[in-house]
Amino acid sequence: MKKDLLVLGAQWGDEGKGKIVDLLSANFQLTVRYQGGSNAGHTVVVGEEKFILHLLPTGILHSHTKGIVAQGMVVDLELLKVEIEQLEKRGISVRDRLLISDRAHLVMPYHKLLDALFERKSKIGTTLRGIGPSYMFKYGRKGIRICDLEDKDRLYKLMKEDGEFVKDICEKVYREKHSVDIDKAYEETLSYYGYIKDCVVDVSRFLMENKDMSILFEGAQGTMLDVDMGTYPYVTSSNASALGLPNGTGLSPKFFENTFFLGVSKAYTTRVGEGPFPTELFDQDGETLRNRGKEYGSTTGRPRRCGWLDLVALKYAADINGLDGIVITKLDVLDTFEEIKVCVAYECEGRHVTHFPASLSMLEKVKPVYKVFKGWLKDTKGAKSLSDLPERAKDYINFIESYTQVPVVMLSTGPEREEYLWLKPIMQEVKV
Ligand code: GDP
Ligand code: IMO
Ligand code: MG
Repeated sequence: MKKDLLVLGAQWGDEGKGKIVDLLSANFQLTVRYQGGSNAGHTVVVGEEKFILHLLPTGILHSHTKGIVAQGMVVDLELLKVEIEQLEKRGISVRDRLLISDRAHLVMPYHKLLDALFERKSKIGTTLRGIGPSYMFKYGRKGIRICDLEDKDRLYKLMKEDGEFVKDICEKVYREKHSVDIDKAYEETLSYYGYIKDCVVDVSRFLMENKDMSILFEGAQGTMLDVDMGTYPYVTSSNASALGLPNGTGLSPKFFENTFFLGVSKAYTTRVGEGPFPTELFDQDGETLRNRGKEYGSTTGRPRRCGWLDLVALKYAADINGLDGIVITKLDVLDTFEEIKVCVAYECEGRHVTHFPASLSMLEKVKPVYKVFKGWLKDTKGAKSLSDLPERAKDYINFIESYTQVPVVMLSTGPEREEYLWLKPIMQEVKV
């Protein structure tokens, strides 16, 4: 029987994970973020109120839950403090319900500087939050972890070494001046640490010792941005697919035997930043998707690139994540389209391909093969049961289900907490 739930992005991020996690975390005791950092922007709309969470687990909005920042995340302490203060100002207590892994790596000011520098030379279109460089330092064994903040001398030594290294990269490799004041960064880091110090624990031990608690694991970004499985190098620097779960939490893969794997996908596709996007639209339909879907980045405000649903990519995400169920969000955005297309294969050098290719050169060449659906031209916003849905919308959902071979268990039909409907129950913990 399933006890825990994983909610992750099945596309290129911004699928509406925040809304779904907010809704479902009401049923869980813990919400765990396990990869990425403040590059995430998870939106929750409750009546007149809107929250955008970057580093904090979305479940923290429910007062009965604990939020966990696990070891696979990279933490910008300055932004974390701002985010906590903003929620506390809005009457949501955070620090008494927040646990932060002592093994999580830090994002330092010089990582943000390097992010901007690397972007000027070879553009990925990052969020400029220092994510890539922080993971680079981690895997290059130069990172600084939260546990290092307890030993001030060691911290100072590590930061000074990093400072020299960054200076060399700036001046010797890129021939640019740099202006990171390590002494100032050191003082600030210690002061931000003082603010969250009491929340720091060994998270993997906590989770192992509290096996009976129900957990929602909240993925950030999306499967197609996964560093190993996504459209490399146009990806983020962590494992945003389910592959990130064991290393990001510090738990054995066996721990997740009782976890329901739920993927979130829009009824169409978006991506922010550079990189291949086979179903991208450059016409009026793309504009309509952007306008109706309000497709502007929650973290950077950048317009999102928009296109039709790509089932080749979604099936790939379903397979590599081992999804047990899919949530389709933003169905309402398609309500006004006379025709809706879905990509069922890629045409590449005269062949039809249905497996998502690894090669960037191939991805840049592929042409989508579409199946065309007649639009339902009816309002689905706020639909509460299957019988409220137009037949053509049901056909669309059934097709996604049969193509991916994964049940579509829920639909979201608006940004508000209440705008959803269940199609199938998923687990006892989650009230339907
Ligand atoms: P996340 O990063 O996956 O959490 O997604 P974002 O919050 O970055 O972007 C999703 C956007 O779509 C947010 O503005 C949500 O409020 C909004 N949204 C979520 N679900 C729906 C839906 O079903 N319909 C509409 N119209 N908007 C939605
Ligand atoms: P959520 O959790 C959408 C994209 C960036 C860029 C690439 C690398 O809100 O879905 P990074 O700053 O991570 O080094 O940028 O990844 N990206 C996202 N796109 N949603 C996100 O998060 C993203 N986080 C990073 O636009 O293309
Ligand atoms: Mg987002």
